[in-house]
Amino acid sequence: MTLDSAHLPPVVAVVSPKGGSGKTAVASNLALAFAQRMPSVIVDLDMYSGDVEWAFGVQPTYRIHDVARRLREDSSSELEGMFTSRGAYLSLLCSPDSHIAADAVSGLDMATITQRLIELNRPVVLDTSPGMSDFTLDAIEAASRIVLVTTTDVASVQAARKLIDTMQALRLDTARVALAVNRFNSRTGLDVADVEHRLGYAASMRIPESRHVAEGLNAGRPIVESHPDSQAATSILGFADSLLGVTLGKRFNFWWKRPV
Ligand SMILES: Nc1ncnc2c1ncn2[C@@H]1O[C@H](COP(=O)(O)OP(=O)(O)OP(=O)(O)O)[C@@H](O)[C@H]1O
Ligand SMILES: [Mg+2]
Repeated sequence: MTLDSAHLPPVVAVVSPKGGSGKTAVASNLALAFAQRMPSVIVDLDMYSGDVEWAFGVQPTYRIHDVARRLREDSSSELEGMFTSRGAYLSLLCSPDSHIAADAVSGLDMATITQRLIELNRPVVLDTSPGMSDFTLDAIEAASRIVLVTTTDVASVQAARKLIDTMQALRLDTARVALAVNRFNSRTGLDVADVEHRLGYAASMRIPESRHVAEGLNAGRPIVESHPDSQAATSILGFADSLLGVTLGKRFNFWWKRPV
């Protein structure tokens, strides 16, 4: 599948100031949804506590700090050989495996890596850490779409509001924001409409509380693969296709070999 010029491959930053709201759940499923359409990349920018590798059950040989060092030594180095593959169509760039290694990655390193990823001309998903690190801010600036994840808890929604306000204060384009309401049926006293009203966005993804979401992350098999007909998967798959500009068509069986 190729995209027309109106649909350049999306570069999606998945963000949420509150920890544990579902960034990795959304990011890993979104990346897998893209990869069912075309070769795609997910990057774990949660430098100190990244967990994307567990969401996919892979063991990386190279990680972000290895790529950063390689590019510092030789800026023309190929990224491809340093990705971790998950099936034929999804490439992972996983976070450092120690805090010391994470400390060695600078904002400049990440800007270089992100630029090289964009040049690959594939959908890219950037999973971020909670809070607002410099890496997250840089990801927000670089991304064509920003998926803002919130649960239906007041604290999570208020933190999301603060992020939107900050983006506006920094004159960052908030039209790129898409709202993902996670665990929307968890009976917290707020519903999706309350969240939409408070944040000023219609929800692009509505993901219910579901043990399959959590089980999928623990088993290395995100829900778009393990339960593709579930409400959570359907919502994420639909959003992924809307970003790709796809309405119909067969998804790749994930384990097929890429055609040569
Ligand atoms: N819709 C859901 N239903 C049930 N459990 C969920 C759902 N979404 C996320 N979880 C679970 O909640 C926990 C936190 O989710 P996740 O790791 O995706 O959040 P996060 O925002 O990435 O966290 P962090 O801020 O630590 O990076 C995980 O155990 C995950 O399995
Ligand atoms: Mg996470």
